[in-house]
Amino acid sequence: MGEILRLRGPLACIVGARPNYMKMAPLVRAFGARSDLPGVVLVHTGQHYDVAMNERLFVDLDLPKPDMNLQVGSASHALQTAEIMRRFEPVLDELEPSCVVVVGDVNSTLACSLVASKKGTPIVHVEAGLRSFDRGMPEEINRLLTDQLADVLYTTERAAASNLAREGISADRIRFVGNVMIDSLLQHLKRAVSPLDTLVREGVGAAFLADQAGFGVVTLHRPSNVDQPESLREALVILRDVAARLPLIWPIHPRTRGNVDLFGLSSLLADARIALLPPQGYLETLGLLTNARLVLTDSGGIQEETTALAVPCLTMRDNTERPVTIEQGTNTLVGRNRDAVRTCVDEILRTGGKRGRVPELWDGRAAERIAFDLSRRLGQSARDAERVRA
Ligand code: UD1
Repeated sequence: MGEILRLRGPLACIVGARPNYMKMAPLVRAFGARSDLPGVVLVHTGQHYDVAMNERLFVDLDLPKPDMNLQVGSASHALQTAEIMRRFEPVLDELEPSCVVVVGDVNSTLACSLVASKKGTPIVHVEAGLRSFDRGMPEEINRLLTDQLADVLYTTERAAASNLAREGISADRIRFVGNVMIDSLLQHLKRAVSPLDTLVREGVGAAFLADQAGFGVVTLHRPSNVDQPESLREALVILRDVAARLPLIWPIHPRTRGNVDLFGLSSLLADARIALLPPQGYLETLGLLTNARLVLTDSGGIQEETTALAVPCLTMRDNTERPVTIEQGTNTLVGRNRDAVRTCVDEILRTGGKRGRVPELWDGRAAERIAFDLSRRLGQSARDAERVRA
């Protein structure tokens, strides 16, 4: 393993989109705490750029300002990926990093990995090996290809190693370390903003929560749910059903917001007990999730966060790349099946729903384990290089 990583320049840490930030923040901190690791250069591709999707989360997570921003912005998948590659190549030439550290499964993850692999720069993938087995999801393509290119693969749950083994990736490259997203959650939970403060700040009256029944939280942004008029309509009808029993708070993704208007579906939301909010900061989101009676989502990260918080999660997808949240956690797949949602909501309101337990190594120390392992691998390769020279 030692021959794969070379101790040269800095650790080039890549972020691009919202779900990357809560994964990278604990890594940057853990890398910085080890004097035997090279320094960090934080590169933002600019895939996400709105203040609400971006700067606000950096502040909440104490993530340092990126050292550079490639400002690629939005485009089709092909154009966005290509533009990230075009702009990242000269950065890589200039930095000559010891390795490129990528997280998760967004377009920035794959684009930077492709550039690094062609340049012979080692790639470290954090959150490797997750598979939905649904190639209709852009993220599944990003996961499969990034893992094929990566030299070191850190996993969040046991099932990931078997997925990687099946794809021919050798075991010495893979290490089960736990979940860096949960590192962030545990670190910041005590600073979570109260849902009432969030609602009032967004101009939703306190009366919205007056009936003491509590509330549910919604997030939806997967293309399979929100990019076609019919699927988005089905999703909104389900939300109306649930809202008739429990008020819902929905920080809405800009693409989803745009499509509700574009497809002429806003009337479905007009008279329902659904508080639509703009995308929220990390601390506001934690406050909403922790206090929710249930969460309806299609997000990967929120399936994990609700499991860690023991809050029932109904995932509006037909599959998940995070099976541990179903097998051990509080997650249930409901797709866009109205009856399934109704049954689950009944059960949750009656009994509190699925209890679950926190998965192995989701203990707030995953980034520390990664930093330790990386320093061992880099140290080993430096010693090997010395030996060859001597
Ligand atoms: C991306 C990730 C997805 C992740 C999600 C979290 C990929 C393939 N998808 O999806 O895995 O769960 O981020 O949000 O990488 N937009 C804004 N402001 C922004 C960014 C985007 O308004 O700051 C709008 C634009 O209209 C843009 C659209 O959202 O076209 C889609 O953005 P994009 O980054 O392509 O993908 P997401 O849907 O956010």
